[in-house]
Amino acid sequence: MQDHLQLKNEILQKINSSSDLNDLDDVRIQFLGKKGSLTLLMKQLGSYEPEKRKEIGQKLNEIQKDVLEAIENKKLVLRKNHLNKKLENESIDISLPTRPENQGRIHPLTKTMDEVVSIFAQMGFSVADGPDIESDYYNFTALNIPQEHPARQEHDTFYFNADANGDRKVLRTHTSPVQIRTMEKLKPPLRVIVPGRTYRSDHDATHSPMFHQCEGLVIGDNLNMSHLKGCLIEFCRVFFGVEDLPVRFRPSYFPFTEPSAEVDIGCSKKDGELKIGPGDEWLEILGSGMVNPRVLQNCGIDPNEHQGFAFGMGLERIAMLKYGIPDLRPFFESDLRWMKHYGFFSYEQTSIHQG
Ligand code: DAH
Repeated sequence: MQDHLQLKNEILQKINSSSDLNDLDDVRIQFLGKKGSLTLLMKQLGSYEPEKRKEIGQKLNEIQKDVLEAIENKKLVLRKNHLNKKLENESIDISLPTRPENQGRIHPLTKTMDEVVSIFAQMGFSVADGPDIESDYYNFTALNIPQEHPARQEHDTFYFNADANGDRKVLRTHTSPVQIRTMEKLKPPLRVIVPGRTYRSDHDATHSPMFHQCEGLVIGDNLNMSHLKGCLIEFCRVFFGVEDLPVRFRPSYFPFTEPSAEVDIGCSKKDGELKIGPGDEWLEILGSGMVNPRVLQNCGIDPNEHQGFAFGMGLERIAMLKYGIPDLRPFFESDLRWMKHYGFFSYEQTSIHQG
């Protein structure tokens, strides 16, 4: 009996002093495992007289019950301690400053494109596009710029090598070929803009061999010059955010429009700083005109039934004017310092407000 009591106390003490769940399991195995000392005692029961066997058996069962209970209780305590320790070690110091985050910027050109698209979308235009690599036909001929036309020389075209038929593809020199592609595909009335990349062999502070234009084309019935003017005056005023912005239409020449007009906006220069708005100077920002009847005919549209107007503008140019960016070249140099300075945060509201 004395032995049994001693054994029980020894086990309980070991359970009590286990410092973690592994320790505790070792104790369990040591006494209750297959070769555990309590297990062995129970195995020996068979060798006792029935009377003695009953008595010792009962004792051993009680010890086993107490031991199992003690193990379970200790388990709960150890688990709780373990969790508490974890919580303590992993506590969050909410007084720490946040880690600096790298915030990207929206390129001024992307921003400008989004603004232009959104202004024209509000006027009912949809966006069309076409390939950067164009045939001579779409880039020139269909736009009433035949082979011997002087306008071809003015475009500083990048030509591809001639194919087997002697045809040379070009990198489109303007977005105007998409006028032709659109009129071939869709029936009037139509209203599209075409923002996209264009290419000319030219490189200085205000010219890049790759640049962007936005074309516009409206075809309908009974459209005239006043529709063109109304549309473009509205665009200029909303885009530059100047309600009383003076807009001037200056007679010009483009092979694909007749009559043609260049569009200027008012500005002033004070202490070398350019301000867009009423003033005594003008800035040219886009080309426009009534679509030349020959161009309509080239697309199978009867000029006696439908007319329309078109326009085209350089997106870098209007971005530079609106956001005061003096040089075109860094637009495409991916200099992060420039992006930080001129770029926009994505959550910034666009400055489009309808007049
Ligand atoms: N394609 C012309 C250029 O690149 C711009 C232009 C002028 C487009 C008049 C037009 C337009 O649609 O009507 O210089």
